[in-house]
Formats: sequence, C-alpha cells, structure tokens
Amino acid sequence: MNAQEKNISIEKSNGRFYTPGFIVQNILDMSGYYGASIVKKHVIDNSCGDGAFLVEIVKRYCENAKQAGLSNEEIAQDLCRYIHGIEINEIECNKCIRNVNAVAQSYDIDSVVWDIKCADAMEVKDYNGKMDFVLGNPPYVRVHNVGDSFERVKQFSFAQTGMTDFYIVFYEIGLKMLNQSGVLGYITPNSFFNSLAGETLRKYLIMNNLIEKIIDLKHFQAFAATTYTTIVILKKTKDTDLTCYYQYDEKNKIPYYVDELATNDFYIGNNFYFSSKNDLRLLKKIFNNLGQSDIAVKNGFATLCDDVFIGDFDFNSAYLIPVIKASTGKLSRIFYPYGRDSKLIPETELQKDDALYRYLLSYKSRLAKRSCENGGTEYWYAFGRSQAINDTYKNKLAVNTLLRTIGDLKLIPAPAGVGVYSGLYLVGSTVKMEMARKALLSDDFLAYISLLGKYKSGGYYTFSSKDLKAYLDYKLAFEGGILA
Ligand SMILES: C[S@@+](CC[C@H](N)C(=O)[O-])C[C@H]1O[C@@H](n2cnc3c(N)ncnc32)[C@H](O)[C@@H]1O
Repeated sequence: MNAQEKNISIEKSNGRFYTPGFIVQNILDMSGYYGASIVKKHVIDNSCGDGAFLVEIVKRYCENAKQAGLSNEEIAQDLCRYIHGIEINEIECNKCIRNVNAVAQSYDIDSVVWDIKCADAMEVKDYNGKMDFVLGNPPYVRVHNVGDSFERVKQFSFAQTGMTDFYIVFYEIGLKMLNQSGVLGYITPNSFFNSLAGETLRKYLIMNNLIEKIIDLKHFQAFAATTYTTIVILKKTKDTDLTCYYQYDEKNKIPYYVDELATNDFYIGNNFYFSSKNDLRLLKKIFNNLGQSDIAVKNGFATLCDDVFIGDFDFNSAYLIPVIKASTGKLSRIFYPYGRDSKLIPETELQKDDALYRYLLSYKSRLAKRSCENGGTEYWYAFGRSQAINDTYKNKLAVNTLLRTIGDLKLIPAPAGVGVYSGLYLVGSTVKMEMARKALLSDDFLAYISLLGKYKSGGYYTFSSKDLKAYLDYKLAFEGGILA
C-alpha cells in the first residue's frame, strides 16, 4: 500500500472526505443559501469536519448581514445563534472553530461563541424541527465498518433494509432537523438510487414529495476516492410535485439544467433513474415490455481459479478446448473436464492423460481450497460453478460488459465447442442472433446502459445479464420474437 492508498484507507474508515470549495458553492447556491434572505435563518452542518461548509456559510452570512446594515456586535450574536455545527472528532471540531473564527475576523467580527458541538449527530436532538437549512457532506461508511455504532444505526427508520451506510442515516437526521419550510442540501453517494439499503429513503422522499433538485455528477469524481456521488436538494414544502434534474459541467464545475421530471418519470420499479424525460421513456418501455425473445443471456464459465484452468498450455489434451474471454475477445484454451452430456469426466479417465493429470495434481491443494458449488472432494478438478457448461456445444455470441461508447462493445461468435468466460453470452437461434447483434450495436443500447447508472471508473458503464435480457426482449419481441 503506498502512502496515498494508506491515506485513502484511513479516510475511508472515518468517512472523512472533505468537500472541495466548488461543491460547497454549488450546494449553497442550489439550496438557496445566498442573498439577503439568509439573514436570521438557522443553518447546520451536522458532520462539519474542519468546516468546508461552515466557512463559506459564515462568509455569506457576514456579507449579507453587513449589507443589511447589521452592526458587528449583532452579527457576532447572529453567528452564535443561527449557525450550527456538529462534528464527532474533537481535533476536527477545534480546527473548524479556528477556521470559522478566521473568517469572522476577516470581517472584523470577534468574540463569537460558536455553536459548534463535538458530538455524535445520531444522539443530538436539540435542532429537530428548527433548521431552515441543513447543508453538508455526511460521512460515507458502510455499517459493517462502524463497530459499536451498528446497533444505534439500526435504530433509524432509513437503516432497516440492506447493507446500510451512515449517509442514509444522515438523510434521516437532516430531515428531522428541518423546520416546516426547511431545505436540505447534501452531496452523498448515489447508491441509494437503486440499492436495497436505499429503499426506505426512496419511498420516504417520494411519499413526502421532498425532492426539489437532483444534480447528477455521473462519472465526475469530486473526491480523492472513487465514489459516484450526487447532490440532492430536498425541500419540505415544494411548490409543485416536480423535480428539477441537472447534470454537471465538469469543466466549469457548475450544474446545468436538463429537464423537469414528474415522479413517475424517474421512480420506475421502486428505483430512481435520472435523465431527460425522453431517455427515461425508453427505459420505461423496456421495463414495462411484456414481450419475450427466445434469446437467453447467461454468465460465462466460473472456474474460481482461472489461472490454473485457462492459459497457453505447453501440452495437448482432449480436455483442453478453445475459450473466449468475453471482456477482451482473447482466445485461449481451458481445461474442460466435462463430456458432451455436461457430466464431469471421472478422475480415473483423466489419469489416462498423463501430462494433463500431472499438471492438475501439481495444483490439487489450491483447487481443493475453492468454495465450489458442489462441495465434495471428488470434485476438486471441476469448475467452481456449473453455469454455462450446458451451452458449451451450442452456438453463442460472447458479450463484454464494460462500455463507454458503442465502439467498446465486443460481440464475438463462440461456435459449438468453444467456451466463454469473463463476461456474458447470448444463446438462441442463428437468425435471432443476427437481430440481437444489430439491436446491440445501436445508440439505443448505449442510452439504455447509461440510464441504468451502473458507473465504472474511466467513464465506463456496466450491466448484468438481466439488464441485457430486458433490452433484447424489448427490441426483439416485436421483430419476430414471442409475444407474451
Ligand atoms: C465526509 S466528511 C465531511 C466533512 C465536512 N462536512 C466537509 O464537507 O468537508 C464527514 C465528517 O463526519 C464526521 N462524522 C462521522 N460520524 C459522525 C457522527 N456520528 N456525528 C457527527 N459527525 C460525524 C467525520 O469525522 C467527518 O469529519
């Protein structure tokens, strides 16, 4: 682990990624924390770290209070009365106080008795129902990393489903702090859009018509770690039931408006999907399609020890067959211990193949350590999973699952007798395979994959066999497929 990786890992266990200035500006602007109207308004950052948000909040408060003609003494009192912070880490909390003091002093405002508490925000109830603004960047820590806090986290209503994360609980804490017309502006991971852990939060946001704006950062990395984030602006009393959807101009570091969405535009099958109304229509058509094509989409071989099973063997054997790595299109050979009937070849048969058997024995202890689907020690040389074995002697089309442009799509024929691993494959009639190939090499497919929002680093998107099947069913059902 190099120094930078070590830092990231320490940061990770504390959920401490401090917010860059431009994101702070974006959140304050999009939440409406600017101008004369912020004077005498309560604002809190309930996980304030060393004060990335509070420093800018204090700056804006001082500017506007001065313009409104308040004296320095009045402003000092206001800063103590209206600006609040909570931070669990004492060192960070003290740093934060030093940082906001420096800002106040730059406006000739001294002796502020700051309301910045060193406390656990999960325990603090003093602000409930009182805040005009809750702004910040809550900690991102999965519950399995939180040690003793687990029981307390699990008491929150939003933490009841799936592998929850502190940030989901902080939505609940923040919403409780808002007054009747309050606004919450957070940057958090976007995983709650479709995770099991985010289910209660999603339902709550929809049932209470809270989502004012979504600023989708997509692949843009605001922090020094790979996290896919979104800025979310929630409002207690929205004027309409619409949500404004923005994307992010990475060059100028500002959000830009894309569309105004009704709940049923983006809340599809209990998950959130964000894009323009038009693109979302395509997604809805795919999800709501009842037609089915007779093309199956499956996962390739899973040996659970590819470096032993796959390679450029320096001997020949009847049990070595060609195999395509779907992710790269590379052709090599795989030790395939199955007959045409997909049954495992008995070890006594393999023993007759001297070179192969010697090779296998040299890896026996490693192979036996895999946690294979069918357990028993007599299966030590079998694949880890039985998936794809039934289709080895069928015509297939290998498909990679990492795309940035449609040019990244690799559709490689894997005829009968050639296996596929590290990716998906299609199997069905030859005629339909040609139609499938055409349907996949299209802008619609890329639009669909990006709508699913399964981000990978470097600007890539991924998708599952289920996602691909849904797309092909939609595209092929009406072109000669079977209609349900
Ligand atoms: C992602 S950082 C953000 C800090 C700051 N708001 C910023 O944007 O730079 C989250 C902060 O939450 C603090 N924290 C973690 N758990 C907390 C809790 N239960 N109560 C209050 N603060 C907490 C961490 O110490 C860390 O400083």
